[in-house]
Amino acid sequence: MSVAEILAQIDSLPPMPAVAVQLLEATQDPDVDLSQVAHLIECDPAMTANLLRACNSPFYGLRREVTSIRQATGLLGLKQVVQIAVTLLASRYLAPSQEGYDLAPGELWKSSVAAGIAAELLARECRYPHPSTAYTAGLLQDMGKIVLAERLGGLLPQIRKLTEEQGIGWEEAERQVVGIPHPEVGAALLERWNFPATLVEAVRCHHHPASATLDPTLSHISHLADALTMTLGMGLGGDGLAYHLDEHSVVALGLDRPGRMDILLARLAEQLQQAEDLLRSPVTGH
Ligand SMILES: [Fe+2]
Repeated sequence: MSVAEILAQIDSLPPMPAVAVQLLEATQDPDVDLSQVAHLIECDPAMTANLLRACNSPFYGLRREVTSIRQATGLLGLKQVVQIAVTLLASRYLAPSQEGYDLAPGELWKSSVAAGIAAELLARECRYPHPSTAYTAGLLQDMGKIVLAERLGGLLPQIRKLTEEQGIGWEEAERQVVGIPHPEVGAALLERWNFPATLVEAVRCHHHPASATLDPTLSHISHLADALTMTLGMGLGGDGLAYHLDEHSVVALGLDRPGRMDILLARLAEQLQQAEDLLRSPVTGH
């Protein structure tokens, strides 16, 4: 299969509902009308039900039950509600198993949500002004795997052999064997779905953050978020063992003080424990 054929497969996926991009845009608008945002979500009754269920999960620690989207935005804030909505929309793609990557059902979902949580944590730590954008970048950075998974099935041993015998990173091995690595496929996918250019770039550059030009900080955050979740042993299918950490990201984000990353890692482990319900199942948390 050629690169063009792989990219053509993007069109065979059910398109991400346009509401995802509309919601992300709403979070950037200082004059946003909250009732309009609530209406956008309520147009999809299934998503509304799932979103309310997620808001009421222990992770968000609300004292009383949330029963409407308006109430949820009031209690959790617009950005948090949009974050949950986008997570639910992405789960339609990320939750099924990705055999091409040796990832069991739910593994890609787990590692993606964990990377989102890690990215938000890093963003707050280095005072990046848009922590919820960082979350979305972390969540979506491995979307390309869902397109490549089928193709990689038979080629996985060849890719692994290259990483083991020649010591090259997983992304480069993917390029040599498949013709295009998953970050580029993921970026093409998000571009097709009209996601903001900075998010597309962060997905494209999450293994090579130094090549980002629009918003290098976001790419460094995505890269480190990936590395932290790998360190915690999440999403170790296929590429985990051949992951190359770009130390420049630690310096670029000002997190190079001795012991700082260890503290962050411990805090992430704690947050992931709290998010256990969410990580277990994209919809019900059970
Ligand atoms: Fe990746």
